[in-house]
Amino acid sequence: MCGIVGYTGNNDACAFLITGLQRLEYRGYDSAGIATLSSDSPRIQTTKVAGRVAQLESALAAGTIRGRLGIGHTRWATHGAATEINAHPHSGGRSVLSLVHNGVIENYESLKTDLQAKGFEFVSQTDTEVIAHLVADHYAQLQAGGEPTVEHCVEAVQTAVSQLRGTYGLLVMFRDFPDLLIAARCGSPLVIGVGKGEQFVASDTSPLVGFADRIVYLADHQVAVIRPESIQVLHRDQGRVRPDVHVLSSDSVDVNMEGFNHFMLKEIYEQPQSIQNALRGRLDRDNATAKFGGLNLTPQQLRGVQRIVLTGCGTSWHSALVGEYLIEELARVPVEVEYASELRYRNPPTDHATIVFGITQSGETADTLAALREMKRKGHHTLAICNVIGSSIAQAADGGIYLHAGPEIGVASTKAFTSQLTVLTMLALYFGRLRHLSFEAGQRVIEQLERLPHLVEQALACHDQVKEIAAHYHTANNFLYLGRKFNFPTALEGALKLKEISYIHAEGYPAAEMKHGPIALVDEHTPSVFIVPQGTVYEKVLSNLQEVKARGGPVIAIVDHDDPQVARLADNVIRIPQVEDFLQPIVASIPLQLLSYEIALLRGCDVDKPRNLAKSVTVE
Ligand code: G6P
Repeated sequence: MCGIVGYTGNNDACAFLITGLQRLEYRGYDSAGIATLSSDSPRIQTTKVAGRVAQLESALAAGTIRGRLGIGHTRWATHGAATEINAHPHSGGRSVLSLVHNGVIENYESLKTDLQAKGFEFVSQTDTEVIAHLVADHYAQLQAGGEPTVEHCVEAVQTAVSQLRGTYGLLVMFRDFPDLLIAARCGSPLVIGVGKGEQFVASDTSPLVGFADRIVYLADHQVAVIRPESIQVLHRDQGRVRPDVHVLSSDSVDVNMEGFNHFMLKEIYEQPQSIQNALRGRLDRDNATAKFGGLNLTPQQLRGVQRIVLTGCGTSWHSALVGEYLIEELARVPVEVEYASELRYRNPPTDHATIVFGITQSGETADTLAALREMKRKGHHTLAICNVIGSSIAQAADGGIYLHAGPEIGVASTKAFTSQLTVLTMLALYFGRLRHLSFEAGQRVIEQLERLPHLVEQALACHDQVKEIAAHYHTANNFLYLGRKFNFPTALEGALKLKEISYIHAEGYPAAEMKHGPIALVDEHTPSVFIVPQGTVYEKVLSNLQEVKARGGPVIAIVDHDDPQVARLADNVIRIPQVEDFLQPIVASIPLQLLSYEIALLRGCDVDKPRNLAKSVTVE
């Protein structure tokens, strides 16, 4: 979703701003812009485009240094269409200041009415322009005709944000101060990269890599006053606070495609390694269990847990569904899975022996954050299963488990999904070993997990075959994905991957449920992808497959052994390595990810930046 960058120092601001915006492209956006200020110019220069950062770059006069202070933004439209006028930065007052904003302001209509009554003219439909004028209004009042000061700028921002209801990460520059940036945060992340004689700001760490190795995460209700030689942080209630400086983790460093054509493909191929990273140091062979450093609960407290709520959005919600099967099967603890967007407004009766896991790649999804906060407020211990270190959800939860999957840039989640499932399997093992799961059974789980990276490597060998299948089916308008038990969520995730990046309508269903509706969609133009490995429900899924075949539907089957029955019925068969049923979602997801990727390519879609989607959804 929207991205922010900012620079103040002695170098050309545009050089960092453009690189930073390119690195934020993965979040999803539809327009982009920058504003710069030079000490020898009396005016802020703004360039915006309704399109890609590459277009913005061409729109800037090549080679001219436009200033040593600047802010930039990629916008994912919420209030108002994706037009040049609605793109950020927005100017406030009569171009007294320029401002970029992530988040949503809920009371912008009433603030706008008040500002219009005072004579402010609005050119865009955005909530952001309201903040720009609001700051400008306070700034003008504070000066009262006198000389402007930095204190006026700071107070104007503080007073303006105190009137806002909603979420914001803001970055403001003032015409009167060509080296000053003011950042403010509530619910939308901002990170400052600390340099020597220069400072960088961004909405996540990826733009900062290679520019700064020390960073300061701004917390909610903080305002930062940023100049080339200094950073001052002020908290709404505590006054001036010491900036907490962190080292920029090397996890964030790997942000190029390394010879792959797309980030998504690179991330699919990284899975043997990312799964290995999730497992590293967490398998305890001696005790036949798993170990985690950050749950912040004693084994006694964990033993007392009576119910687990798993919540998340999108792909992470699918991980939660697999987690439900895993934890119930291995640990026999009742689990409930909730969409975070529903959980945040529900009022489910829960007791104090319930703990809540928020599952999230980015750690910034607004609904997941709000759901966790609500559950925490009710007194539940909240935990995050999260990829991005230091993200809002990682900070808000009482404890958690990091995926260590490295940055996931492709909007469609792949390696984060399989790492989430790996962590959830270890979690189920851990809870199981606190309860009834025997030493031997625990060891078997560990052996399976240790083989997993290698098996995922083997599963990737289906790529060429998947390409041929994609060539055959890429013009279809509808797909069905069917599986049972552990592979019901696998089917949901397979369908989501296809929808997200190829824009083909796809439905995931529990295979047996298909006859209660979706079977009406089956015809010779609607392929069904069946996940039908050996296991307790194999025969049942085979019957469902026959039902589709009997109606003339093409079938792509994913199997885990030489299966003559399936070979006779299915039009295409993809073989994956054999694993215990609880690990099948991980291994079976590999061909499904590759199938979506290849189909999307053949349809000419922008695989890494699919239309309308955002990597990290920071609005409700
Ligand atoms: C967006 C992304 C999805 C992702 C979902 C949840 O919709 O496009 O790929 O699954 O958000 O994101 P999270 O970062 O919380 O896992």
